[in-house]
Amino acid sequence: MRLQDKVAVVTGSSRGLGAAIARAFAREGCKVAVTYSKNEGAAHELAKDIGAALVMPLDVRDRGMIRAVYEKTVAVYGRLDILVNNAGVNRTNDFDKQTDAEWSEVIDVNLTGVFRCCQEVLPFIADKGRIINIGSLSGQYGGPRTPSYACAKAALMALTHNLARFLGPRGICVNCLSPGVIGGEFTEKTMSPAVRETALSLMLLKRFATYEEMTGAAVYLASDESSYMTAQTVSVNGGAWV
Ligand SMILES: NC(=O)c1ccc[n+]([C@@H]2O[C@H](COP(=O)([O-])OP(=O)(O)OC[C@H]3O[C@@H](n4cnc5c(N)ncnc54)[C@H](OP(=O)(O)O)[C@@H]3O)[C@@H](O)[C@H]2O)c1
Repeated sequence: MRLQDKVAVVTGSSRGLGAAIARAFAREGCKVAVTYSKNEGAAHELAKDIGAALVMPLDVRDRGMIRAVYEKTVAVYGRLDILVNNAGVNRTNDFDKQTDAEWSEVIDVNLTGVFRCCQEVLPFIADKGRIINIGSLSGQYGGPRTPSYACAKAALMALTHNLARFLGPRGICVNCLSPGVIGGEFTEKTMSPAVRETALSLMLLKRFATYEEMTGAAVYLASDESSYMTAQTVSVNGGAWV
């Protein structure tokens, strides 16, 4: 029970990595506010499974919705200790074909969305709290077929540094968890077979991760065990970035 009596908001926890992190946090005794963008049914099912009392709609492009999530979390659970900025989208395209609309959407959700969620959480998050930004190997490797996504995720590492400086005096640790490639819907939609083969060849472990394999690092970064760790990027990528 490494997160006993802690309270977490996980953005985009209706499915995928956000749902896996919500489950892992709940197993460690954390009260989780589950949030969804479109998949309300999946979010409610997850909440039932993990005994979460809070399920809320959240679009990270909307400051009013972000504030409402924090207000309700504090009203129902009594506090807020951990924010996981997990919500993300990808619009795969070669550099010369990426449209302004694709670029803007990915930056708006994956980078500006995190900025908004972090700025709005300041009056709500407890001192000595934790902010975990979900980055990506793509932001360390430059894509390859995801210019907007790679740039947003690379910038998240700088945002992590900047916010860690700002929140250091409050004892709030801000870190970035950077997954490699996780097998699942997100990867199915964004990787061609050729890109998949190249990615696998670069990985020392020669396989994609499971969502569950990201949760150990997430629990560590959320727990008291990481109390002297801030402004870091933790890469969990099967040895793809050496
Ligand atoms: N999968 C990978 O290989 C991989 C690798 C590296 C990093 N990551 C990162 O890990 C995170 C989760 O990825 P995933 O694989 O779990 O993706 P996913 O299965 O596509 O799930 C994305 C989640 O984000 C939510 N979401 C989408 N747009 C949103 C918005 N505007 N506001 C709030 N929530 C929104 C979705 O909600 P709904 O279900 O309600 O639509 C869903 O819960 C992302 O930040 C991604 O960049 C993934």
